[in-house]
Amino acid sequence: MKKIVPFLLAGCIMLSMAACSGEASVAGGGGGGDKIGVSMPTQSLQRWNQDGSNMKTLLESAGYTVDLQYAGDNDIPTQVSQIENMISGGCKVLVIAAINDSSLTTVLEGAKSNNIPVIAYDRLIMNSDAVTYYATFDNWKVGSIQAQYIETALDLKNAAGPFNIEIFTGSPDDNNVNYFFGGAMEVLQPYIDEGKLVIQSGQTAKDQCTTQNWSTEESQKRMENLIASNNYSPSGTNLDAVLSSNDSVANGVTNALVAAGYTKDNFPILTGQDCDKPSVKNMIAGLQSMSVFKDTRTLAEQVVKMCDAILKGSEPEINDTETYDNGTGIIPSYLCDPVSGTVDNYKELLIDSGYYTEEDLQ
Ligand code: BGC
Repeated sequence: MKKIVPFLLAGCIMLSMAACSGEASVAGGGGGGDKIGVSMPTQSLQRWNQDGSNMKTLLESAGYTVDLQYAGDNDIPTQVSQIENMISGGCKVLVIAAINDSSLTTVLEGAKSNNIPVIAYDRLIMNSDAVTYYATFDNWKVGSIQAQYIETALDLKNAAGPFNIEIFTGSPDDNNVNYFFGGAMEVLQPYIDEGKLVIQSGQTAKDQCTTQNWSTEESQKRMENLIASNNYSPSGTNLDAVLSSNDSVANGVTNALVAAGYTKDNFPILTGQDCDKPSVKNMIAGLQSMSVFKDTRTLAEQVVKMCDAILKGSEPEINDTETYDNGTGIIPSYLCDPVSGTVDNYKELLIDSGYYTEEDLQ
């Protein structure tokens, strides 16, 4: 039986002020050295590095041993074999941020037959009854926040319009895209239907707006094509807004818009997600309007609490039992709260909370 001692102050420094001030806490010590496997999709995007290192630090300070693996640069066979090794290597819980939502069904049969609980981290793993819990942010709300930003910035409730907009979302094999896109389109669709928002390209369906692997190069190429085929430019067809589901995609859009002559003085409204450093720098420079901040420290803390509860034989905290069906039934979930980040609140949100230093953003 593991003894859980109160949350260590030192560990608290790693966490967000919000997380530290609430009742949320992670056990300090007491993990008894049990090994926990943490599988992350890539090191090429800032957030997954933070997620991985937050998880490792918090799990180790709670007394666990951690097998942390990054699957190359979104390489599915690498992720599968890393998970196989975690199962055969004696991990007691697996925490997995899947590259592809549907490619882990077979490997996870091994987890199930060895009674190893699986926590889907940030992205739901589909079509596997081995998935025990899911911890993420409220992904529908991420999309709503982005679209509401556009709604307010263009004053869509009152202005006559019409306004031109183009839509970019993420990788088609990431289940989160359904929620980001769905949450955003719930807000924007009525304006599209009444003709107040116009998508000149006609590319309105989710499948037409995806970006494989959330790649900056891919979104840049698509934006360049949209610029060429619709004559968007500061002196040509007006482009009022681009909805982008995350920052890596927004960065490609920004590159293409800057190359087409847009500057901070006439930049279209552009959304993002993650508050990655390049995007926060773009916000400060007037080359991206907002990003949704998902504090990876909070998510990691919640998942460490889940692991701890599972291994103690108690019920992990969950706050959603309705939203996330992975094809085998609803997966009990914990949803963290995403918030809007802009040039007006980034200091408080990101610097005062210790997420970044001033230097990080220079
Ligand atoms: C995550 C986002 C991230 C994207 C690309 C999504 O599943 O929720 O935070 O920007 O993947 O890695």
